[in-house]
Amino acid sequence: MTENIIIDIKDASKSYGDRAAVRGLSLSVAKGEFFGFLGPNGAGKTTTIRMLTGILSPDAGSITVAGKLVSDKLHRAGKIGVLSESKGLYEWMTGKEFLSFFAGLYGIAEADEAAEKLLAEVGLKDRADSLVGSYSRGMKQRLKLARALVNEPDILFLDEPTLGLDPQGQDSIQKLLKRLNEKGVTVFYSSHLLHEVSRLCTRMAVIDKGVLVAEGTLDDLRRRTHKDDLRDIFLSLTGPDAEPE
Ligand SMILES: Nc1ncnc2c1ncn2[C@@H]1O[C@H](COP(=O)(O)OP(=O)(O)OP(=O)(O)O)[C@@H](O)[C@H]1O
Ligand SMILES: [Mg+2]
Repeated sequence: MTENIIIDIKDASKSYGDRAAVRGLSLSVAKGEFFGFLGPNGAGKTTTIRMLTGILSPDAGSITVAGKLVSDKLHRAGKIGVLSESKGLYEWMTGKEFLSFFAGLYGIAEADEAAEKLLAEVGLKDRADSLVGSYSRGMKQRLKLARALVNEPDILFLDEPTLGLDPQGQDSIQKLLKRLNEKGVTVFYSSHLLHEVSRLCTRMAVIDKGVLVAEGTLDDLRRRTHKDDLRDIFLSLTGPDAEPE
């Protein structure tokens, strides 16, 4: 697997003031994996994804994406797509204008056509010409996913992409992600919807209080915990009474 590693976290730590969010985390993901990243509220998932995408720098350790150190600001980490917790939507544009704007930034020639195609893929075709500010929460989440896909990324970092989506939305986004993964896109996927993770992810890691507590395929985690269902596995690894810090 060494040659195929596309995401490599080595002994990374990050604190906010004196609060340690991630502590000595090491993880690697191979090209083409659909990798689940799990942990209770406050476990350090978003902090890790922010470090992976260069929004935060680790205090210690190193992070490599597509063979380049993320901390090296001059690097081009291949084509990555990010859906994060932050909003980052321009509410005064229509959905189509918004995606077309980003397509333009990426130098895509037929920006309007690309925007229309993406809106259809995430189920927003009917609302292409409505202002983003008038979208419901789930529609905004769909638009964030569409934006993450604008540059046809090879690696997708998704922090709870189906948060707030109705069951139809969850299903269609899962199918879309599965299709992309089958075409070779590596997906780094954080979600609290464990049935989703069991269905989609080929391998996963569980973190708690900033520390890696388990890593492997669903079967590896089953063997380790003697539980069958990912929800029971998760609770046994992170404690049923885990509270946010
Ligand atoms: N901007 C910030 N300033 C200070 N502390 C922060 C900040 N962001 C996160 N933290 C703290 O870092 C720790 C990890 O938070 P993080 O957001 O990475 O967790 P998470 O696993 O994404 O949780 P959730 O499932 O709730 O999204 C928590 O203790 C949190 O309070
Ligand atoms: Mg988070």
